Order: sequence, then structure tokens, then C-alpha cells
Amino acid sequence: MKQKILVTGGAGYIGSHTVVELQNAGYEVIIIDNLSNSNADVIDGIEKITGIRPVFIKLDCNDKEALNALFATHTGIKGIIHFAASKAVGESVHKPLEYYRNNIVTLLNLLDLMPVYGVDGIVFSSSCTVYGQPDILPVTEDAPVKPALSPYGNTKQINEEIIRDAIHAGLPFKSIILRYFNPIGAHSSAEIGELPNGIPQNLVPFVTQTAMGIRSELSVFGNDYDTPDGSCIRDYIHVVDLAKAHVVAMDRLLENKSEDALETFNLGTGRGVSVLELIEAFEKGTGVKVPYRIVGRREGDIEKVWANPEHANKVLGWTARETVEDTIVTAWNWQKKLRERGIQ
Ligand code: NAD
Ligand code: WQD
Repeated sequence: MKQKILVTGGAGYIGSHTVVELQNAGYEVIIIDNLSNSNADVIDGIEKITGIRPVFIKLDCNDKEALNALFATHTGIKGIIHFAASKAVGESVHKPLEYYRNNIVTLLNLLDLMPVYGVDGIVFSSSCTVYGQPDILPVTEDAPVKPALSPYGNTKQINEEIIRDAIHAGLPFKSIILRYFNPIGAHSSAEIGELPNGIPQNLVPFVTQTAMGIRSELSVFGNDYDTPDGSCIRDYIHVVDLAKAHVVAMDRLLENKSEDALETFNLGTGRGVSVLELIEAFEKGTGVKVPYRIVGRREGDIEKVWANPEHANKVLGWTARETVEDTIVTAWNWQKKLRERGIQ
């Protein structure tokens, strides 16, 4: 058994897939989550896949006393993966204070407590949103951080700065910041996946819900961009590939493999896929049509962004393996599982 890891937001989409990979790699996992955007049933899914039931504690990371008590009770936590955050870009524009509080105070609480309880490292969930519209594609980690287009995006930038400043000040821990591109898909078992709250804002859950007949039509936001087919381009990465990168990052932190106390990595495939290409991949992979209509641009959308993942490939020894064609089928299988369970 490897060390004990605390996964905040571990009942969520990326967190649950990461817990599976951590357990598969031999880590002992403690999940904390306030279930504000997830369901405790996910713990059953994780157990079904791995044969191990992770410890789950319902806890709000804003509650510092509760966090303190957790570290005091579950002694020996060596690493943290911090997923817990609010993530709806549009909602953050309307509820900025909620977003700043939830996404910043939670990190401050963890960083305060790490030295007290001898936690050696923290992996932080950041986002390619920090690059805005990059000037050079594919985008590398040294590309400038552009002014955030939403309070949500700003919280990721601020969180990165907080971690940088804390480490610069000599606080006794290391950190790896992971900038995710667009995670999609679900575990191949379809035991866990993404559970969007209400009408999905993200493309893939909207595609699968439309294919299922839950939504009558997908709106494609714009076909007049400066891209080959006019629709926006993103780097869609299989959530399991993404999850595996967290295990490598945690190994690196705990095995002291790097000289730098802070490292930042892009997690993407390096392949840009347009909205229309993604729909085509879905239809080809599943044989199910997605009724769609081209509508106007969505405010705040970036025209095109995809990763240069070479830094992660070389330094972490990690590469995204799955194709978007295979990944999108796992999203469909998950959607079908939700229907079987009568959820959506
Ligand atoms: P998610 O909403 O599925 O998971 C986040 C989890 O954190 C949820 O289970 C939620 O209940 C929990 N949570 C929220 N606030 C909490 C709090 N105060 N205390 C305890 N638990 C709390 O989201 P996700 O897609 O799995 O994203 C995980 C992380 O990755 C987030 O930090 C998100 O900003 C970041 N991220 C996500 C994407 C994406 O496209 N999904 C892209 C880039 C970065
Ligand atoms: C992808 C593409 C849309 C829905 C957001 C956040 C970002 C990150 C990931 C966390 C875009 C188009 C979408 C629809 C569409 N999250 N689209 N019709 O915008 O790249 O990123 O999630 O950090 O911060 O901003 O992802 O899935 O919303 O959109 O045409 O109904 O699909 O215009 O081009 P996005 P998305």
C-alpha cells in the first residue's frame, strides 16, 4: 500500500475517475466532498470498479474546523489532490462572491493545514482557461496568462498565484498545477461518469442528451470562426487519461522526483477538434444522429485552443492515449447507463 491521499471533490466527475486510478495504483484514498455537485452513489461505482471502497466523508472545505478535525483523525495524509470547486462559468458571472469564496477559501484552508499535518504535496486542478485565446497554437505552459473572461476563470488564475506565492515564501510543501483542456467521456465500465446539473453547458453532455432525446436539438455556437469548418476548436481529452496524469503527478511529488517545488503541466492530447468534427465523431462511433442547428456565437467563447502536451509527455512520462472517436463512445455508454438507472 502506498501513501494516504486526500482527494477533495472526489465524488465529482474528474475526482471520481482519479480515485479509481489512485486506488488501482495502490494509494489509500480519503474522499471529502460536500456533494454540492455530485452524489454519494459514486462511491459505490468506485468500489465496483476497483473492489476497494474509499473512505468518504461529507465535508465542506470552507469549514476549516472540520478540515482540521479530519487531518487530526485521519493521520498520515501525505498528499492532496484538490478538485473541490464550483465550475459553471456562466453561473460564476452571476454569483461572483460565491465562486471566489468557494474556489479560494477552500485552497487557503488546505494550504494553511498542510504544514501543520506534514502533508508533502498538493496537486491542483487548473484549466486551459488561464490562456484565454493564445497567440500561438498549440499552447505551451510558458504562454502568457490572459485576463480572465469570468470570475470562475479568475479563481483559477488566483489559485495558481496563491500556490506560487506560498511556495516562494518557503512553505514546506511542493505542488503540481495541472491545466486541463476539455475532459470528456467516462470510465469504460460506465459505472462512473459526468452528472451534469440541469441543462448541460458543456458540449459533450449536451450531445449525448440530445442523442438520447432528452434535448430536442443541439445548438452549435457559431460557424463563422477563423477555423477550417468555422466552428470552435478544442482539445478534448478522455477523463481516464486525465485521471492517470494525477497519479503520475502524485508519485512525482511524493517521491521527490523534481528539484522544483512548483511545476505546471498542460494536460491535453495535442489535437484540436472542431465542434462539427466532434458531432461527426459521435455519429460515426455510435450510429446515432444528433439533430443540431447552427446558432450565433456564445459570449466569451475562445475561438480555438489546443495543448502542446510535450512538457507533460517528457517530464511526467505521461501521454493521453485515447482518441476522441473512442472517448465519445464512452460518453454515450454512460448516458445509456443513466437512462437504465432512470436518472436521465
Ligand atoms: P465536479 O463539479 O464534477 O466536481 C467537483 C466536486 O467538488 C463536486 O463533487 C462538488 O460537490 C465538490 N465541491 C465543490 N465545492 C466544494 C466544497 N466547498 N467542499 C467540498 N466539496 C466541494 O467538477 P469536475 O469537472 O470534476 O472538476 C474538478 C476540478 O477540475 C474543478 O476544480 C474544476 O474547476 C477543474 N476543471 C474542470 C474542467 C472540466 O471541464 N470539467 C476543466 C478544467 C478544470
Ligand atoms: C466546447 C465547444 C462551444 C455547448 C468550458 C469552460 C472552461 C473549462 C471547460 C473548466 C465550444 C461549443 C458548447 C453547446 C456548442 N472548464 N458548444 N453548443 O467552453 O471549451 O470550456 O469548460 O475549467 O473553463 O469555459 O467547453 O464544452 O462548454 O464548449 O456549440 O451546447 O462547444 O461553443 O466551442 P469550453 P464547452
